[in-house]
Amino acid sequence: MGQYLLLEKKEPLSVITLNRPEALNALSPELIQELVQTLEQLDKDPSVRCIILTGSEKAFAAGADIKEMAGLSTVEMKKRDLIGIWDRIFKIQTPMIAAVAGYAFGGGCEVSMMCDIILAADTAKFGQLEINLGIIPGAGGTQRLTHAIGKWKAMEWILTGNIYSAQEAFQAGLVNKVIPAAELLNEAKKLALKIAEKSPIAVTAAKKAILASLELPLEEGIQKERQLFYGLFDSEDQKEGMRAFLEKRPPEFKGK
Ligand code: CAA
Repeated sequence: MGQYLLLEKKEPLSVITLNRPEALNALSPELIQELVQTLEQLDKDPSVRCIILTGSEKAFAAGADIKEMAGLSTVEMKKRDLIGIWDRIFKIQTPMIAAVAGYAFGGGCEVSMMCDIILAADTAKFGQLEINLGIIPGAGGTQRLTHAIGKWKAMEWILTGNIYSAQEAFQAGLVNKVIPAAELLNEAKKLALKIAEKSPIAVTAAKKAILASLELPLEEGIQKERQLFYGLFDSEDQKEGMRAFLEKRPPEFKGK
């Protein structure tokens, strides 16, 4: 347990709970620092096959900490680069599931989009509210939301600063599934365990290939996929997976 996070580590999963209730999990520089360090430690630990990131019933996170930024100038913002460190969340190779209940606003919505799968409680509310503060999303929201829901919907979300229900976010394509709030964490764990059963080498390769599709032109993306695909044939897990299929038994992946 850190100052702003709770960590539950139970092989093969880890659950990180944002825990700054007095500010609805507003993402202060200290909280983000702790989150990044925790994620990077978990990412190095081969026994952690999937990470769940969650918040409280009331708030996944109500955004970057407005109190920290309110008085800063452009020069100070650039010098302190408060948001730069957030990019490290997106560099985590272990699959990450965001389990979102309550508010996921501004930076909170952006952090959920840095995860690989978003499960939403039926109480979840999403929005990029920055326009209401005279700014724009600064932790990837204009890019990732547009990739997720398309240009026209992203324009509406970001230019109006409206709040969207879990169901609306699901219909827009941002959320994988809407779940009754009481079941959220159980469902996230079930999904995480399913991913954790697979070869972690193949899972990492799949994650890399999918993320490459957001950045590369199709032909280059396909080349990247091919490289990763062929690369897996030197792993024991590929031999085990195919042998198990031929022997009609479940595979036992070792991450080698
Ligand atoms: N930053 C700092 N403090 C925040 C906060 C934030 N983003 N969101 C909530 N808080 C604090 C409030 O200031 C309040 O603290 P005090 O009791 O000390 O005043 C406490 O959390 C509880 O909040 P409210 O009293 O406002 O709770 P509510 O239930 O009435 O409203 C809410 C909840 C609708 C989420 C409202 O708090 C709100 O609108 N928050 C701001 C949401 C927002 O604009 N997020 C975007 C931030 S900018 C950003 O994220 C930039 C980026 O892209 C990186």
